Amino acid sequence: GRGIVVAIDGPSGSGKSTVSRQVAGRLGLAYLDTGAMYRAATWWCRRREVELDDAAAVAETVRHMPLSMVTDPAGPRVVCDDVDITAAIREADVTAVVSKVATNLEVRAELARLQREIIASESTDPASRSGGAGVVAEGRDITTVVAPDADVRILLVADENARLARRARERHGSADDTAIAATRDEVLRRDADDSTVSAFLTAADGVVTVDSSTLGIEETVAAVLSVITEAA
Ligand code: C5P
Repeated sequence: GRGIVVAIDGPSGSGKSTVSRQVAGRLGLAYLDTGAMYRAATWWCRRREVELDDAAAVAETVRHMPLSMVTDPAGPRVVCDDVDITAAIREADVTAVVSKVATNLEVRAELARLQREIIASESTDPASRSGGAGVVAEGRDITTVVAPDADVRILLVADENARLARRARERHGSADDTAIAATRDEVLRRDADDSTVSAFLTAADGVVTVDSSTLGIEETVAAVLSVITEAA
């Protein structure tokens, strides 16, 4: 048989990475963080000293990126050119410019192609990480572009204050005014830039919205699991 494909989209600070990873772990599925692939592409272009405004050069560089995604939900890793860049791609210097690479349409086509390959492998190949059981793939355009035919499609949303407070606590250990102000660019400017190429702020037809504004991680995981159970 064929494994299950769960697609989860949402803005920054919606909790989609943490929640998707835990849901994958609970269900014995692979976990694919597609944002990490855009971050890796950004890291790789910088390493190759490619000017990020040169769209053709960026696209060509990404087409030759030696990227390997480790989809184990217990310890997802990103390896590029034999370097483990799992931590490096979370640094502020990558986060600040990743939207520039992610709004490059040729880059999007190439990464969507790689993402579909990984999703197909995890949901059919007994030799894949999940043994063919399936995958939870998370990002901005998974429910709409990468896997519109997924078995379960979820848009995870949260109001702006909740998203800012979560990111501020993650980055600065506090959600006071200073920490919130320091987080605004990362969350709001990035979502505004990203939403020029992906429609992740409203649910497409057939996509179930889960609002995590007033939910903790555990409750959000439970809500997502129940959407999956109902669909199965
Ligand atoms: O989710 P995360 O913050 O790691 O995503 C990093 C960036 O990757 C986003 O700001 C967005 O520009 C891009 N992205 C995307 N499409 C996806 C996932 C992420 O454009 N499916």
